[in-house]
Amino acid sequence: MAEHDEITDNTANEADQAMELTLRPQRLSQYLGQERVKKELAVYIKAAQQRDEALDHVLLYGPPGLGKTTLAFVIANELGVKLKSTSGPAIEKAGDLVALLSDLDPGDVLFIDEIHRLAKPVEEVLYSAMEDYYIDIVIGEGQTTHAVHVPLPPFTLIGATTLAGQLSAPLRDRFGIVEHMQYYTVSELEQIIQRSSQVFNTKIEDQAAHELARRSRGTPRVANRLLKRVRDFAEVKGETAISLATTEHALTQLEVDNEGLNQTDRKLLRTMIEGYHGGPVGIRTLAANVGEDIETIEALYEPYLLQNGFIVMTPRGRMVTEKAYLQLGLPLPHSNE
Ligand SMILES: Nc1ncnc2c1ncn2[C@@H]1O[C@H](COP(=O)(O)OP(=O)(O)OP(=O)(O)O)[C@@H](O)[C@H]1O
Ligand SMILES: [Mg+2]
Repeated sequence: MAEHDEITDNTANEADQAMELTLRPQRLSQYLGQERVKKELAVYIKAAQQRDEALDHVLLYGPPGLGKTTLAFVIANELGVKLKSTSGPAIEKAGDLVALLSDLDPGDVLFIDEIHRLAKPVEEVLYSAMEDYYIDIVIGEGQTTHAVHVPLPPFTLIGATTLAGQLSAPLRDRFGIVEHMQYYTVSELEQIIQRSSQVFNTKIEDQAAHELARRSRGTPRVANRLLKRVRDFAEVKGETAISLATTEHALTQLEVDNEGLNQTDRKLLRTMIEGYHGGPVGIRTLAANVGEDIETIEALYEPYLLQNGFIVMTPRGRMVTEKAYLQLGLPLPHSNE
């Protein structure tokens, strides 16, 4: 979903990409936040190592930018195995999967990002691979087709998805370990910001880090992206450490409001209020009105707006809350019934 996600860090050049790599924690101990997830994984990793077995398959789900990909690499590092990375849409046919899996050594990790977007035939082949470490595929065409039974090394599949609801039950049930990634707390984001600013070789005042953390939508990717921009403002001003004033100024310029809502968040709320009396509005209608696709709204925008009480879900669609009117400075509707 990265291609249509304006919050995503579209790493523009090689230097940025290298930076992105150094921003990624390598070990569980460096991975900040997600305490429950880390605690559980540490146990499962240790147990798998003691038994000298492949770790059970892991499903990581939650909104974009919370560190699913990062965590998959951390798990492989902790296990001391190789990780091969791909994504749901990239695996076009069963044969692609065979190629990926037969390349693994026993215990290695196959990471499939956006696993909810796997093609159905590929998904079906994955079932036996996950359960019993083999794949049956049919090769050739017409008269010459024959079935081939391919045994696989024991491996760990780590699947990541922003939309767990779109995963079929048979696939979901084959993951022994299912972890829901949560939005980060302000203090966790503060630590991430402090760590990132060390990587950037920049100083940031505590109050500035706190304000940035507060306005980062509970999301490390957003925090890192905003930190880079705020740093630009501070450098141009000649500050030795990023100040609170500069942080506030930069965030205003970037149209991130005091609750961390961005332009699209506000556009969504405004559309519901001005176009639909606050709702309920169906997802299709909303998507068409704000020019975002449904998946992006469901995976990226709505979870944050829901979690923070700007919208509520009803059987007929989402509705804005009083908090949304207040945040946008719009008059509350009259209750004239
Ligand atoms: N726990 C963490 N501690 C420090 N930095 C983190 C943490 N989690 C994520 N990050 C940083 O946030 C950024 C986004 O993380 P990542 O790409 O792993 O997210 P994701 O959940 O895979 O997102 P998507 O769903 O869009 O693929 C990375 O730059 C990473 O360095
Ligand atoms: Mg990812």
